[in-house]
Amino acid sequence: PRRIRIPHLHEMTSTGERWTMLTAYDMYAAEIFDEAGVEVLLVGDSAGNNVFGYETTLPVTVEQMIALTRGVAVSARRALVLADLPFGSYQASPEQAYLTASRFMKEGLAHAVKLEGGAEMAPTIERLVRGGIPVCAHIGFTPQSEHTLGGYRVQGRGDAAEKTLADARAVEQAGAFAVVLEMVPAPTAAAVTEALSIPTVGIGAGPDCDAQVLVWQDMAGLRGGKAPRFVKKYADLRGELARAAGEYVREVKDGSFPAAEHSFES
Ligand code: KIV
Ligand code: NA
Repeated sequence: PRRIRIPHLHEMTSTGERWTMLTAYDMYAAEIFDEAGVEVLLVGDSAGNNVFGYETTLPVTVEQMIALTRGVAVSARRALVLADLPFGSYQASPEQAYLTASRFMKEGLAHAVKLEGGAEMAPTIERLVRGGIPVCAHIGFTPQSEHTLGGYRVQGRGDAAEKTLADARAVEQAGAFAVVLEMVPAPTAAAVTEALSIPTVGIGAGPDCDAQVLVWQDMAGLRGGKAPRFVKKYADLRGELARAAGEYVREVKDGSFPAAEHSFES
C-alpha cells in the first residue's frame, strides 16, 4: 500500500473526503489500525494516561515517547506516523524544539511531530518547518496546560472563539500542515475549518472538521470508568479481555488448560 503523506491529507481535504487519526502506542495497535485504513497514527502523549498510568500527560518524557514512536513507525506500512512532543521538551525556545523534534525524526522514525499551542508557538512551528520537520498544531483544550487552564474544559466559548480563530490562523501562517481542535464548540470549529485551508482535526469539536481523532483505548472500550462526552465506544475490549483472562484463570485452576493439544509428547 502506498504510504500516506501530507499532500494526500491535503488532497483529501480539498476534495471533501474526511480522514482519520487514531492514537497508537505499540506494534499491534499500529498494525491493526494501519490495515483498517486509518490515515494518521498519533503517538500521543496521552500515553501518560493510557499507557504509563499517570493522571496527566505532564510526566511523559522524550525517551518514553521516542521508544513508543519507533514501535509504531516500524509497524505501520501505510499510515503517516505523527508523534507528540511532550511537555517541557519544546516550550523553552524554537531551538530546544528543533533539537527535540529532530530526535523524534531520527530515533523515533516519526514522519511529523505535533505540539500544543497557538499564536505563541508560531516562531517554533516556523523553525521546525524551516528545518524540514512537518508540524501539526494543537489548539483549544491543550492537556499539557491543564494547570493553567484550570482543568478539562471546553475552550473557545463566547468571546474566546475569536482567540481560537486567531490561533488557528497563526499556526497555519507559521506553516503547520494541520491543526487539532480539542474540546471546542462545534460552531467555532466549523468557523475555523471554513477559515483555514489546512485540515482541521477535531476531538470534541463537532462534525464539521476535516478529520477526526480519538484515543484508541477510549474508542475501543478498553478504558474503565466514564469516557468523555466526545468519545464513541465502537467495541467493548475491556469486557472481552476480562472474560478471556477470567476463563484462563478458571481453566488453569480446574486443570482443563493446558490440554493434550497444548502439550508436547516425549
Ligand atoms: O495525545 C493525544 O492523544 C492527543 C489527541 C487527543 C489529539 O493529543
Ligand atoms: Na497529546
